[in-house]
Amino acid sequence: MVALSGGSTPKAMYARLAALPLAGSVDWPRVEFLWGDERCVPPDREASNYRMVRASLLDHVPVDRDRVHRIRGEDPPVEAARAYGQELRQLLGTPAGPPAGGRIDLVLLGLGEDGHTASLFPGGEWMQDPVSWVRAEYSRTAGQWRVTLMPVVINAAVEIIFLVTGKAKAAVVRQVLEPTGQPGRYPAQVISPSAGRLKWLLDTEAAAALSRIGDRSPF
Ligand code: 6PG
Repeated sequence: MVALSGGSTPKAMYARLAALPLAGSVDWPRVEFLWGDERCVPPDREASNYRMVRASLLDHVPVDRDRVHRIRGEDPPVEAARAYGQELRQLLGTPAGPPAGGRIDLVLLGLGEDGHTASLFPGGEWMQDPVSWVRAEYSRTAGQWRVTLMPVVINAAVEIIFLVTGKAKAAVVRQVLEPTGQPGRYPAQVISPSAGRLKWLLDTEAAAALSRIGDRSPF
């Protein structure tokens, strides 16, 4: 079960996954697809994360359409969030919730220049909500309603990967990974798996401001 990221960064990765040889390395019909967040727009709009993933990946590999669980961006945001939370509970098989129950195997995240991830934006009301699994919120930064997985679900994943590229992200990558200010200033800093692995996949430009680099293996 994977929760995919939207935005522009992962497009190239999805396209590579959809092409040989990588396309042959995944048992696609077994994969359950979720989204980490969605813009509250119809699924055929340019801004839709579902549309982006469908166009770059899902339309090119043999997925089981019944296992593609998109967030209904065309519905009223609060209703879309409620419905997605319900669907997630059914998929994870645990009414109790991720800490006690099932887990998402992989959550792929991006990073905004303001340190947001998924649709967890700085100063959002989500910060006062430790309970919800999925939440709808109007983002002044994005200028639109969003539906997002919440930290309690993301942090219960088996593996979380941030994929960040480009020099425009170098400063925020450093602030998130080598904080100098108050802890938790950036939403990406609340991403801390309770019992899973956290990886950052950075290109050279996005990693340029870091004082120390982990594994430099090319990916
Ligand atoms: C979205 C994403 C968002 C994204 C960051 C980075 O819906 O836009 O979920 O969190 O990952 O904003 O976006 P870019 O990859 O376009 O820089």
